[in-house]
Amino acid sequence: MTILVTGATGAVGRLVVAELLNAGQHVRALTRTPAAANLPDGVEVVGGDLEDPASLEGVFDGVDRMYLFPIGRTAREVVAAAKQTGVRRIVVLSGAMAGSDDGPGGYLPVERAVEDSGLEWTHVRPGEFALNWLGWAAAIKAERVVRRPYGGAVTQPTHEADVAAVAATVLVEDGHAGRKYTLAGPEALTTVAQAHAIGAAIGDEVRFEELDPVEARGQWIRDGYPEAFVDWIFMLWAESARHPEPVNEEWASVVPRLTGRPARTFAEWATDHSADFR
Ligand SMILES: NC(=O)c1ccc[n+]([C@@H]2O[C@H](COP(=O)([O-])OP(=O)(O)OC[C@H]3O[C@@H](n4cnc5c(N)ncnc54)[C@H](OP(=O)(O)O)[C@@H]3O)[C@@H](O)[C@H]2O)c1
Repeated sequence: MTILVTGATGAVGRLVVAELLNAGQHVRALTRTPAAANLPDGVEVVGGDLEDPASLEGVFDGVDRMYLFPIGRTAREVVAAAKQTGVRRIVVLSGAMAGSDDGPGGYLPVERAVEDSGLEWTHVRPGEFALNWLGWAAAIKAERVVRRPYGGAVTQPTHEADVAAVAATVLVEDGHAGRKYTLAGPEALTTVAQAHAIGAAIGDEVRFEELDPVEARGQWIRDGYPEAFVDWIFMLWAESARHPEPVNEEWASVVPRLTGRPARTFAEWATDHSADFR
């Protein structure tokens, strides 16, 4: 069986490739720049751009299943080409916000294209990636500090390795067709606790400095974040700081249920990435 992994050079995609190789599958990996892919031996690397469906000629030949990195604009054409060439199952890297209308998402057009295709599909909808915390790396490296508004806001960070493990499981195993798996890590942690967990992982104290939300908003916009995104995320954090949610046990249960292994904690994630913060 040949499984096509799109987004194969991404943080999750590389781990999906590794999981599938471990499971003994033949992996074809799509990238826009094959020369820079640096994927393991045994992976068949092919060139193509999901935003340019014409560039995908031949990419689906002999492919049975596909892991689809979410690009909404061309999803229908990509899925149609895959179906026409004989792909039978598509696993979408989606997001927990896919089900709501207020996120910046962009996942729904991909999910709908796949659902409408008549192929077997499964959506993997992770919550916030712990990887987003790499945005703190420069300040932690330089000053051992995290400066943010809403230190009491709670999130349930998801380790990219768990996203990949779930995706690989539903690519290989039967019994997941038509399922939407929203998943997250095992703990709900405040922003302050996350900063301290990174400190523990690097064996040094990391301070948290609470910023004024109005000043922080202005700074983020000056730094180039889209205003709508900043307002959306600040609104979520403000709400979370006022009413911290407990762990979403349903989301936390997906990784152990599907992979048979406990979901990775934020402390494990911080340890896995400690070199990025030292
Ligand atoms: N951050 C979060 O909190 C969060 C939460 C839920 C879901 N997500 C989803 O997860 C995604 C990130 O996944 P990731 O970390 O594995 O990816 P990543 O590290 O951001 O890498 C992006 C990957 O997508 C590929 N790619 C991008 N545009 C492409 C195109 N036009 N054609 C073909 N390949 C293309 C890149 O391949 P090449 O450059 O090699 O072509 C690369 O492998 C986000 O984009 C979002 O959709 C994120």
